[in-house]
Amino acid sequence: MTRVIEWARTALLQALPRARLGLTWLSANILGLAGGVVGIRKILVTHSGGADNYLAVFSERGLFMAARGNLIFGDICNVGAVDKAPFYFFDPSMKLAIVGATGLVGTELLKVLAERQFPLTELLPVASAKSVGQLVEFLGKEYPVVSLDDAIAARPDIAIFSAGGSVSKEHAPRFAAVGTTVIDNSSAWRMDPTKKLVVPELNADTLTADDKIIANPNCSTIQMVVALSELHKAYQVQRIVVSTYQSVTGTGKKAVDQLLEERAGQTASNPAYPHPIDLNVLPHIDVFEANGYTKEEMKMVNETKKIMGDDRIRVTATCVRIPVLGGHSEAVNVEFAREFDLDEVRAILARTPGVEVVDDPAQNQYPMPKDSHGKDAVLVGRLRRDETQPRTLNLWIVADNLRKGAATNAVQIAEYLVGKLALVGN
Ligand SMILES: NC(=O)c1ccc[n+]([C@@H]2O[C@H](COP(=O)([O-])OP(=O)(O)OC[C@H]3O[C@@H](n4cnc5c(N)ncnc54)[C@H](OP(=O)(O)O)[C@@H]3O)[C@@H](O)[C@H]2O)c1
Repeated sequence: MTRVIEWARTALLQALPRARLGLTWLSANILGLAGGVVGIRKILVTHSGGADNYLAVFSERGLFMAARGNLIFGDICNVGAVDKAPFYFFDPSMKLAIVGATGLVGTELLKVLAERQFPLTELLPVASAKSVGQLVEFLGKEYPVVSLDDAIAARPDIAIFSAGGSVSKEHAPRFAAVGTTVIDNSSAWRMDPTKKLVVPELNADTLTADDKIIANPNCSTIQMVVALSELHKAYQVQRIVVSTYQSVTGTGKKAVDQLLEERAGQTASNPAYPHPIDLNVLPHIDVFEANGYTKEEMKMVNETKKIMGDDRIRVTATCVRIPVLGGHSEAVNVEFAREFDLDEVRAILARTPGVEVVDDPAQNQYPMPKDSHGKDAVLVGRLRRDETQPRTLNLWIVADNLRKGAATNAVQIAEYLVGKLALVGN
């Protein structure tokens, strides 16, 4: 099957620019048939013929292929008829700005965009004034970092922000005002009742083309709600008690430098934390609030309710920073309204989008942060009944905070905007 797809894909890519319609028709149909088997779910195409038409086929794993050239709408209809996929009209220009492109999340964003072959035609990396002109690599090409003002003047279609709350608060509305859709990784807009807080597996379908600033949830919240999403549908979550074990990459470059300097036996030159982090554990993430909880803990409480669309869910959290380089872990105790069966829980988790079950204690198999590196999946294991009270489950949830906790989630939102809402050009 892989060889057939590869042949059809190559043939289509070669046929399109040369307007060899017979070959286009044949290879597109073979691709459509094969695509149906491998799970192609969307086809994007412009509505007229001509040299600048664009075709993108999305599979469940991301962009499957993209092509540009002479294309007749009817040819693509044949792919659609075979696959029964919905059609979306698509303009080929896609300008994407990454605000915070030199940071930890920004760097991961560039990797995820490249891996998933996000169909962009122009990249605008943005960072602070000190980095303007610095080169950022993307798909083997170097792009100079530009200022926020220059990026706004270029009117990108989408801007993904990962540059801290104050930058988002001030500049996201400026991008939105020129027609850009902003996907924001900071906490600036998450609890604004006029903004959607989106984890695509749960609630991307609430988005419309009118949503000009879309919030990406906190990394610890994302991995927890992804893991609980289908269990909530089956048994209805009532209360969650969560303790986190969060990596220093969640704080950004400064924190990674602190850990590495301390590990090398030096005193940190510009520490991110009020205490040493190496060989230590800090029950303190973000600032303390009047109720004694930290802001990070309250993000988990409030964002969970907003994403799951249920204010009755009670959440209590203790967020802890540990000296780990990449990957957040969570011990979660969840009480349901309905009784569950542990084997059924395992089966539900196995089919939950975005989840991978790693749970074989007899073989010492359980999720660990080092196994989450570079993965988009949320790893779930240590499944067991809480024997002290009814309808309550204990589980251990791990994910790469820079991937599903930030970059991957944001790119999935961007893919949804392009694929489902046909949001391009402004
Ligand atoms: N790390 C995570 O796991 C994670 C997860 C979810 C969300 N987030 C959020 O993502 C954001 C970035 O986190 P990070 O870990 O990538 O931090 P980071 O490594 O410190 O990177 C910060 C980025 O923001 C840029 N920046 C700072 N001030 C700026 C300004 N005034 N104008 C334009 N760009 C500016 C920096 O550019 P320079 O290089 O020029 O300084 C850098 O590119 C934060 O809001 C964080 O809360 C992080």
